[in-house]
Amino acid sequence: MISPTIEKALNEQTHAELYSFYLYLSVAAWFADRHLDGFAGWMEAQAQEEMEHAMKLFHHLQDRGGRVRLLALDEPPAEWAGPTEAVAAVLEHERYITGRINALADVAAKENDHATQVFLHWYIAEQVEEEATADRLYHQVKALADSPHGLLMLDRELAGRKAEAGTAD
Ligand code: FEO
Repeated sequence: MISPTIEKALNEQTHAELYSFYLYLSVAAWFADRHLDGFAGWMEAQAQEEMEHAMKLFHHLQDRGGRVRLLALDEPPAEWAGPTEAVAAVLEHERYITGRINALADVAAKENDHATQVFLHWYIAEQVEEEATADRLYHQVKALADSPHGLLMLDRELAGRKAEAGTAD
């Protein structure tokens, strides 16, 4: 059985992951509007991962006899000054999520919830990768801020990566 404190914290984290899905989908739509389809596809794939993060929490709560509460989602931003700012929003959000996961792990430790502590190890490791990936893309886009040609090359490269991932399935 899960404690009310952990139940609430896991529901709030599910909400945060669903908001990540919403935000990244909004970033994907912004890139798609500008015909940067490689970026759009990359962001859409990131959004899909966030939905998977939310669903893992959803099932953990259920497996532990907790009650799922789906909290209201805010409308995410829909406009950014440019590609650098749009990718920066993703990087900033990943850092925020890392902070949340760490705080959640602290709560699980305090509550002596060993199952949730073990469950969260996956998220802790995942955040290292998520932040590193967003950080790499941010620095690449930033370096190409004054090069439309370079940006198109990067867009094509991102589209290629997505196609590779697709064929690996
Ligand atoms: Fe679910 Fe990208 O954090």
